[in-house]
Amino acid sequence: MKQEISPDLLNKIEEKYKAIGQNAAVHLEGLVYAKPINYWDYIQTDVLLNLQVQRTTLPDEMVFIMYHQINELLFKMILWEINQVSHCEHLTTAYFTEKLSRISRYFDMLANSFSIMAEGMEVEQYMKFRNNLTPASGFQSAQYRQVEFCSTDLINLIDYRFRATIDRNTPYEHAYNHLYWQAAGKNHETGEKTTLIQIFEKRYKDEFIRTMEEYNTKNLWARFRQLPEKDQKNPDLVHAMRHYDYTVNITWVMAHFHAAKKYLESSGEPAEATGGSEWKKYMLPQYQRRIFFPELWTEEELKNWGTEALKP
Ligand code: HEM
Repeated sequence: MKQEISPDLLNKIEEKYKAIGQNAAVHLEGLVYAKPINYWDYIQTDVLLNLQVQRTTLPDEMVFIMYHQINELLFKMILWEINQVSHCEHLTTAYFTEKLSRISRYFDMLANSFSIMAEGMEVEQYMKFRNNLTPASGFQSAQYRQVEFCSTDLINLIDYRFRATIDRNTPYEHAYNHLYWQAAGKNHETGEKTTLIQIFEKRYKDEFIRTMEEYNTKNLWARFRQLPEKDQKNPDLVHAMRHYDYTVNITWVMAHFHAAKKYLESSGEPAEATGGSEWKKYMLPQYQRRIFFPELWTEEELKNWGTEALKP
């Protein structure tokens, strides 16, 4: 397209500003003095590259901090796409599949890059700098929890022991207290919530309850069920849904588990997680059985969830 200042272009600019009660001439005058944009201002590299602050003098702590930040950026990209599916007025199968493929690519990247944690830090350094992190844990990643709330019906995130007591009429607060991850934040002798979860809740609980409510009918599974029945059988869409479920709840979880195991067991003694959970049992998909779209798996596949026998 030839770029020129045509009367048509000037008219469009005038119309645009008139519609919001603004004078187009003032805005055009402003352009005379506007700074030209450059890469570093646009991408905000100075801000971004100043966010890596170590708590120790150990160089590998930088790997740990930066890889977590990369995860948080990708979680944000994932939520960005889910949000568009959730709020799309005229959802089509092609659009849904395209968005899910994007989301899966981001999660594939997270799962496939976990060796940066597993292989990329000296164990001796990790075992030293981790003492400065207690009681913090990736468990307290709010975006990770948001991804879960936005992906599936709440019932699929409830601890299996309490599912029979919870339905769509249960108050959100009650459902919240029975989410599967509450199990990692309890002192098993006293039943009290650990510091890890108390601090987390103080900061995020209200936000979580709002998300639970908002996505009750807008999460990925709910939106899938709102498609015409024929579309719910579309092989590409079903494949994309299953791939996403498997990547988040098995591939990523196992990559994370193997990295955690390597470091936490390195001393040869029973190892405690910085967040204080019974991590070995808690983190395994076989035990946790978190599944976003259980209806898309056969009985046999569900039985084998988290085992070698399950190949999607
Ligand atoms: C060497 C590196 C890592 C170790 C040793 C590790 C260890 C752990 C452990 C033991 C837990 C269980 C809760 C607790 O008691 O703390 C946990 C939970 C968690 N971590 Fe990590 N982690 C590592 C890296 C990461 C990274 C890079 C992320 C990315 C954000 C992450 C995100 C999470 C999340 C989301 C949970 C909660 C999972 C759930 O509730 O099922 N972790 N981690």
